[in-house]
Amino acid sequence: QVAPLDASKLKITLSETLKAIPAPESLVFGGTMSDHMMIVTYHPETGWSDPEIKPYGPLTLDPTSSCFQYSTNLFEGMKAYVGSDGEPRLFRPNMNMARLERTRDRIALPTFDTNELIKLIKKLVVIESRWIPNVPGHSLYVRPTMIGTRPSLGVAASDHATLYVICCPTGPYFRTGARPLSLMAVGEHIRAWPGGTGGYKLAGNYAPTFLPQKLAAKAGYDQVLWLLEDRVTEAGAMNFFAVVKREDGDLDILTSPLDGTILPGVTRDSMLTLIAAHGSKNSLRNIPTSLKLYPHERTFTIGELVQWSEEGRLLEAFTVGTAVVVAGVGRIGSEGRDDIVLPKHEGSMGPIARALHEKITAIQEGREQWEDWSVPC
Ligand code: COI
Repeated sequence: QVAPLDASKLKITLSETLKAIPAPESLVFGGTMSDHMMIVTYHPETGWSDPEIKPYGPLTLDPTSSCFQYSTNLFEGMKAYVGSDGEPRLFRPNMNMARLERTRDRIALPTFDTNELIKLIKKLVVIESRWIPNVPGHSLYVRPTMIGTRPSLGVAASDHATLYVICCPTGPYFRTGARPLSLMAVGEHIRAWPGGTGGYKLAGNYAPTFLPQKLAAKAGYDQVLWLLEDRVTEAGAMNFFAVVKREDGDLDILTSPLDGTILPGVTRDSMLTLIAAHGSKNSLRNIPTSLKLYPHERTFTIGELVQWSEEGRLLEAFTVGTAVVVAGVGRIGSEGRDDIVLPKHEGSMGPIARALHEKITAIQEGREQWEDWSVPC
């Protein structure tokens, strides 16, 4: 019987020298890590070690470690906010834990109880709470990471692992200011395919996106719009939404379904809920309650986006994710066609994206309640 992950065994060693916290307006995503990290290791004979919170610092790993050789790496992205009461809160952490569990299982890393990990994350966030910027639109990004550390070149599941959590203060993800994103639709490099791993938060899903991203940037676009044949799937490392006017004047709001090719984003799920609740449970600011919003998880193609745009019915497009929250899209390029140009709006977003962004940040920052989404540490 090997030891399970047990948060009650946590050992805390605080750093003797604390870093200076950068000014919120100077933050670059992921550029400055906080003072401490949580770390715990798994060995097949003894099980999980006692978890530790200790000063942030490098890992020492055998060069044969499975994570380097066979990419047994996964991560999660979540955010902590300080409410007006000064208490740190996490946003829907159970969703991240459920996704981490599915991803861990997909690459056959050792198991643990994710409820214990949540307890450890909460402890770390409380210790790092001075790092949570108390500025709207800012938060502490929390990056749980799990790597396979089996020290052998043998091609097999990693029965050794390290689980760690690191944090960084963060502000706006794209420093494009008031400008919406431009996307380049890409079909020759494919992010995810049926039966593949695109629906899991594997580190290995990200590396192959960097060359297409460079090519898109070279062609003058901010991010890639990932196609699967002609189907629209995701944008960059974000989920994608389109707002389409219906014949009755109400709005269809579309995003691709979770068919295995789409990362099941926490923000994506939250958007679908907030859209469905408009006009009844809770309405979006500056959107008339008489305007019905119909969320749809359904496949749609780049050809449909072109057609809706030509018919004047493609009112908005936007991307969502934990890191970005919501970003408006202004233009979509695709080979052999003129760019799709979205209607222009003041600032970087259309009214639906703006209202959803306002609503979700109010919930995340503890200014509004929504079910059990905002969880005190
Ligand atoms: C997120 O939106 O959190 C992402 O997954 C994007 C990236 C920071 C990996």
